[in-house]
Amino acid sequence: MFLPDEVIKEISDRTDMEQLVGRYVSLQRAGSRLKGLCPFHHEKTPSFTVSPDMGVFYCFGCKKGGNAFTFLMEMEKMTFPEAAEYLAREAGISLDEYKHTGDFQGSSERQQIADLYDKVADMLHYILLSKPEGKAARKYLDSRGVTPEMVEKFRLGFMPDDRTWLYNFLIRKHYSPEFLSKTGLFSAKYPKISLFTGRVMFPVCSKHGNVIALGGRIMGDGQPKYINSPETLIFKKGEELFGLNIAMLAMRKAGFCYVVEGYMDVIAMNQAGIENVVAPLGTALTDHQAGIIKRNAGRVVLLFDGDAAGVKAAERGTFICEAQDLICEIIKLPGNADPAEILKKNGPDSLHNCLKYPINCFDFILENYCQNLDLTRFQGIAALYGKIFPLLDLTDSEVRREQRLKAIADKINADYRSVYNDYYKHKGGMDQNYTGAMAVQDNKISSELYLLIAVLANYKYFDMVRSELSADDFYDSKAKELFIELEECYRNRVFSRDVILQHLTDGKLREIILEKTSSDEFNLNPETIIRDSIRNVRLNNLIMKRQKVERLLKKEVSEHGDVPEELISEKAYYDKEIENLKGMLS
Ligand code: GTP
Ligand code: MN
Repeated sequence: MFLPDEVIKEISDRTDMEQLVGRYVSLQRAGSRLKGLCPFHHEKTPSFTVSPDMGVFYCFGCKKGGNAFTFLMEMEKMTFPEAAEYLAREAGISLDEYKHTGDFQGSSERQQIADLYDKVADMLHYILLSKPEGKAARKYLDSRGVTPEMVEKFRLGFMPDDRTWLYNFLIRKHYSPEFLSKTGLFSAKYPKISLFTGRVMFPVCSKHGNVIALGGRIMGDGQPKYINSPETLIFKKGEELFGLNIAMLAMRKAGFCYVVEGYMDVIAMNQAGIENVVAPLGTALTDHQAGIIKRNAGRVVLLFDGDAAGVKAAERGTFICEAQDLICEIIKLPGNADPAEILKKNGPDSLHNCLKYPINCFDFILENYCQNLDLTRFQGIAALYGKIFPLLDLTDSEVRREQRLKAIADKINADYRSVYNDYYKHKGGMDQNYTGAMAVQDNKISSELYLLIAVLANYKYFDMVRSELSADDFYDSKAKELFIELEECYRNRVFSRDVILQHLTDGKLREIILEKTSSDEFNLNPETIIRDSIRNVRLNNLIMKRQKVERLLKKEVSEHGDVPEELISEKAYYDKEIENLKGMLS
């Protein structure tokens, strides 16, 4: 069974969380929440909470949390479809129409949507290649260095500027408005208006090469840079990979697969003759996606740009791949360039050179943690343990674990046996009491994430956030993922916390959200909290930008001996903005 987001939202909107949980737990009111003894672990004083407004539960003791669906899945050991059916029945919603949807049984509506995507992709491709209105897009792709062969291979297209052109065209072809509203090609609020207009189009294909979704890039600067199809009967974004149809054979042959960040990077790699490459669709790699790779190859090479966000993404990717028992390597690209930029600037040989020496992800991560911690102090070592031991937990191989414990011992100049003992103490501790030391430690969250969780608890303020910040302003990868989800809801005009939680690929992020939204933190003066947080994020952003300019300045002075005017005035601008914002915050 495959349930579209609207149906999940409908079910959760109509579910009374208090009543549902109340059947298992005796709940007492405590402010806007309810408290009781946790049904998932043994306790004497209540640390289990339910927030009926949010439709979530969270236990501050054992850290289990979730929504009505996950509650039933845990409590009654139901699968997701079973929980959905149970709740739908109680809410008086029939799921009959979806019973036969899913991976193996194509309902005719699924087939119709699939056929339509195929036709639309062909049409947009034709417009790009042969129509006068495709000319600007042809020029754009040319300016980005994309060859005609790649335009062909990836069936790139162009969606005309006319916002109702596609709708009128399809209506003339006898598609019904009701059907078109389910295709994800049109705005949810204005069903005649195309979701993508005046954009270069990237068809997303299933592993069999059928078009199942579209991504559209604005030509030049502007926001949002990319718009991606919403989920439909035939498309679940965490379960597909861009480039997979091409990469499938190549990765089987090579035994490994490159993972890059974006559409353009997959295309650039192909243009350089490398076909075993995929990109997740606008989110971090998910367990499901890593599982797809695992079925075709034993090793993953993550390609990330060298900035802080790239390093974070690599770290997350490693955890996901290790959990799927994939060997995981990383290539840190020079500068802050992505593969597309390297190909365009320096050509295919240079890109090939960059790919020559992948480093083992574990070594990379260990090195990276060590650089940021003071390992001469015990706190530093404890912090390192807290970060790196969870990674050791994931591997099934004792041999690999032993090698890694040795590497850690080496790094901190300690005896292998001691590190070994520390690790097994951590493991034992985890089993008895799965709160774990590292859980406590990691719960410090960035100001970016804090802001967005506050918004998730008080969605009406999202307007305020998006008028001041865009996806590019978020450096924290967790925050960026959440922002893109919120933005997607905003564009589709359906907001549902459940759907967002369902979409998030990062389990840790889900846990943090549940914990934070289950506390009273955001109930008092949310507007002030959010306004101040926006300023905080902007302030951090400006400080980062200023640091970058300062680094550039230093470099210029030491290399050329002169002080470039524009950098000085850029720095002065940041100085002034930072002072202004600080004034507002104090
Ligand atoms: P170029 O800037 O054209 O080179 O694109 P890119 O492929 O390098 O994109 P980038 O590395 O900035 O982002 C990686 C991926 O994240 C993209 O391919 C998109 O799938 C997704 N993405 C980027 N920006 C947005 C956005 O504004 N909205 C959404 N929904 N997804 C985005
Ligand atoms: Mn790029």
